[in-house]
Amino acid sequence: MKTIGILTSGGDSPGMNACIAAVVRRSEVRGLKSVGILRGFEGLVGGSAMQLDAHSVSGIAGRGGTILETSRDGSLKARLEVGALGRMFAAVGIDALIVLGGGGSISAARGISDAGLPVIAVPCTIDNDIAGTDYTIGFDSACNRVIAAANDIADTAESLGGRIFLIETLGGESGHIAISSAYAIGADAVLVPEIKPDLPVLCGRLKAEMDAGKTYVVIVVAEGAGPAPNLIEPIAELVGRRVRVTALGHAQRGGPPTYWDRKMARAFGERAVDLLIDGECDAMTALAGGVLTETPMSVPVSTKKPLDEKTYELINTGAKLKAGG
Ligand code: F6P
Repeated sequence: MKTIGILTSGGDSPGMNACIAAVVRRSEVRGLKSVGILRGFEGLVGGSAMQLDAHSVSGIAGRGGTILETSRDGSLKARLEVGALGRMFAAVGIDALIVLGGGGSISAARGISDAGLPVIAVPCTIDNDIAGTDYTIGFDSACNRVIAAANDIADTAESLGGRIFLIETLGGESGHIAISSAYAIGADAVLVPEIKPDLPVLCGRLKAEMDAGKTYVVIVVAEGAGPAPNLIEPIAELVGRRVRVTALGHAQRGGPPTYWDRKMARAFGERAVDLLIDGECDAMTALAGGVLTETPMSVPVSTKKPLDEKTYELINTGAKLKAGG
């Protein structure tokens, strides 16, 4: 093996650039060259790539997004025809590939490894919804954006009391961001797509708390349980208070990665290179119980990551320190 390709696919996540830099530097240290494939699998299909070296990745680690760009083209998986993959690798001058992305990207990577080509996946998505790893790059940064927004909202909520604030997070069809950040900020409730809430019961509790003097209420709503604006009317009616919505949207996905994301991006990136050098050809880097490891790609491809239902219950039964007094 002489040259490792690296591509970023699906939704970008803070930390992708740090991981690209780690892959390139580690490859160089181990005597290998790196090629960046542009715009995800689209670049692999179209032969679009650029040489990377320590100089070209200098200073990128602290930036959000991905210097390689990415794409979400549903038809690409089909265009990654098994018979043509070897030619595609040759066209961009690579012997092996490291794929940075979420669930869809890892399943496309699996397709390539099924064709007998060496591929390592690095779980990168703010959603943290990949089975086989406790952590995916970008999650910590995304949760920190929720915390920052909640802090800002708390200032105005304290000043003009008696309101209910819905903070809508990203997360697609998963509620991991919502639950983790709701727990961290001490939110009064969290709504996620995986679990149907009993809105009258939940709102009954929130009403009682506000009637007893609670200044304001914060509910974190995962986008898949929303859209949050649709919840304004039912919640306002059930609690009898004004409801305001802040949808964080893509602001939650951009910006510089946090310490934890940079650290994990480097650890995963270096491990991915080492795995390829050790002859591994179908694995995803992973964090399991605090330990850096790897898992066969079949795990994320065929399994759904369980939700932290205990924390969901803890938040939604009010058995915690209350936000907003
Ligand atoms: O999967 C990452 C994610 O940011 C989700 O949280 C969100 O639902 C989705 O991507 C948004 O996709 P897009 O960037 O294509 O609008």
